[in-house]
Amino acid sequence: MSKILAANFKTNHTRASTRAYVEALDTFMEASGYRDEVYLFPPATALNRFETTSDIRIGAQNAYPIENGSFTGEIGLEQLQEFGIDTILIGHSERRHIIGESQSFIAQKYAWFKEQGFRIIYCIGEPLEVREMGSEAVRRYLIDQFEGIDTSYEKLILAYEPVWAIGTGKTATPDLIEETHAEIKKMTDHPLLYGGSVKPQNIGEILAVPGCDGALIGTASWEVSSFTEMLRTAQTSK
Ligand code: PGA
Repeated sequence: MSKILAANFKTNHTRASTRAYVEALDTFMEASGYRDEVYLFPPATALNRFETTSDIRIGAQNAYPIENGSFTGEIGLEQLQEFGIDTILIGHSERRHIIGESQSFIAQKYAWFKEQGFRIIYCIGEPLEVREMGSEAVRRYLIDQFEGIDTSYEKLILAYEPVWAIGTGKTATPDLIEETHAEIKKMTDHPLLYGGSVKPQNIGEILAVPGCDGALIGTASWEVSSFTEMLRTAQTSK
C-alpha cells in the first residue's frame, strides 16, 4: 500500500530556502519515479505556486476561517487562493497547547475549510499525563478531540501525534502506534498518519505498523536530504 508522507516546517525555512528545498525534492521525486502522496507545509510567508514536475502538494500550516477581513496577524482564504492552496493542517498540538486553540475554535475552522472543499490533515494526540493514565484515558481524550468534527468528510486525512513524542526525540513504540491507530480507526476510517519524532532511522518500522498509512514529520523533514531519505524508505518498504 502506498504511504502518505508530509513535511511540517513549523517556524523554519524562508522563502528562499523553501524554494531551494522544493527544487531539490522535485529533482529527487522525478529521478526516483516517486508517485505517492507528498505534502509540504512551509511557513505562511513561503507559500507559493511552485513550478514542479512531480506532484508535491503544498499546504498551509494554519489559516483563519474567513475569506478576508480584520484578523490582525492571520491569513485567510484569499491569501491561500492566490497560490492555489487547498490543503490545511488543523488541530496540530502546538496550536492546541502552545497557541491555545480550543476544541470549539478548531471545530469551527474545520467546518469552514471543509465548506471550502479543502483537504484537511486533522491532528489529534494525547499529552504525557493522559498516556500515563492508560489506554482507556487516551481513548476518551482522543474522542473529545473529535468533538464538532465531521469525520465523514471525504477529504479528511488524520494524524495521530502523541504530544509527548513531538519534537522530543521520543517516538511511540510500534506496538503503541498499532494499538492506538486501531482505536482511532474504530472511531473513523480515514488514512491515518503517525507523527512524533519520525526520522530516517525509525520510519521503516513505523510505516510497517499495521494501520499506519504514512507519517507527518517535523524536525527530520527540515533538511531535504533527510526527507528524501525517508521517501526512499517509504518507496522500498511497500
Ligand atoms: P517532530 O514533529 O517530527 O519534530 O516530532 C512532528 C509534528 O509536530 O508534526
